[in-house]
Formats: sequence, structure tokens, C-alpha cells
Amino acid sequence: MLIAGNWKMFKGPAATRAFAAAFEPPAGVEVVVAPPFVSLAAAVESGLTTFAQNVHWEPEGAYTGEISAPMLLGLGVAGSLVGHSERRQYFGESDEGVARRAKAALAAGLRVIACVGETLAEREAGKTEQVLRRQVSVLEPNERLVVAYEPVWAIGTGLTATPETAQEAHAFVKSLLDAPVIYGGSVKPDNAAALMAQPDVDGALVGGASLDIESFASICTAAARSHS
Ligand code: PGA
Repeated sequence: MLIAGNWKMFKGPAATRAFAAAFEPPAGVEVVVAPPFVSLAAAVESGLTTFAQNVHWEPEGAYTGEISAPMLLGLGVAGSLVGHSERRQYFGESDEGVARRAKAALAAGLRVIACVGETLAEREAGKTEQVLRRQVSVLEPNERLVVAYEPVWAIGTGLTATPETAQEAHAFVKSLLDAPVIYGGSVKPDNAAALMAQPDVDGALVGGASLDIESFASICTAAARSHS
């Protein structure tokens, strides 16, 4: 079980240190946090297993605003998210770019959580499997790769996928790629246990509920108790 907290554009270094000082991950579950770039050093120094929220495919170069895998590794960062739907939606990231980011990060030695998931329009049009197949097909199997199934309609909306819907999507992703699959999209303390109980749900990528120590700890505890 892997529980990853995606802090998005929240928590600068001071708030990151305060979180780390008060947060005690329970035994029996792997917990990582993905703070903003400016807080990565604070998170690493505080002893948290730390992921970046994105990573570029080149080791260095004229790419204003980007950060490379060797730079992250040099800081003690363990991995990175790639292809989060907010990157795809608001910053024009393509499947091809996501593939390049994932490949370079894995080759450099980072772990990667690659995010996939359909929009509401795609789900309603019956295109969920088609979208997942397209997004997953650009990824190559790697022991450091985890896929996060995050239906876009469930992110930050309070509309969590039912455990059955998540299970179905996870099983489909696993039929395409041999990798653990974690679920993301409005994971909260009150729905975490039912999601984690599904056989192909291998953890969670938690946004909003990872910002609060109590709710994040309670989700981590639910995962630690899960036997799936
Ligand atoms: P949420 O975000 O838990 O706030 O829905 C999940 C994510 O975007 O990773």
C-alpha cells in the first residue's frame, strides 16, 4: 500500500516543516508527500519520503520553469508525479510529453507515479477504456513505476468513484501494464477504507485531504489496516 499526498500549490517550506514535525505515519503503509518545488528540500530534511509534482525529460537545458531528474535526485527526492490531470488540463501536457517525463525520470533512478484518468464527458460517452488505453500505452513497465487512476471528474469535486468503479478501472489498467495502481480523486477519511479494500487498489493519491495532518493520518491508517 502506497499513500501519496499531492499538495499541489499549497504549503511553502515553513508549513512543510510544521507538517513533518507533527505527522507520524502509521506502520504498515508507505507514505510519501509531493510538495511544491520550493518545499522539496524542507520535506527531505524533515525526513519525509518526498516526491516532486513534475519532472522534465532533459537533465539540463534551456527549459525555463522546468526541473530535471538529476536535480531532484541531488536534493534527496525519491520520485515524481507525472501527467497529473491538472498538468494535462491547464498546462497542455500531452501523452507524449508525459511518456518522455516518465521515461527520463525512471532511467535517472527516480520512482514515478504516472497519473491517468478520464473526464466526465469521456466517461459519459463510454470512452473510459479508450482513454485509459491511450494514456497507459505510452508507459513502459518498470519496477519503480506506479500508475495513479484519477478520474478527472472526481478530483477536488467530492465525487469519489465508487469502490466498484475504481476496482473496474484498476483491473483494466493492470490488464494493460504490470504495475501497482493507486486511486485518486476525493479520497477522504470516510471513503478510504472501502476503496483500499478493493483487490486492485494498491493505495491512494490524496490531494485536499493530505493537507490536514489528521485527515491524512486517518487515510494512512485505513490503508495500513487494509488486507488487499
Ligand atoms: P483530491 O485530489 O484528493 O483533492 O480530489 C487528488 C489529486 O488531484 O491527486
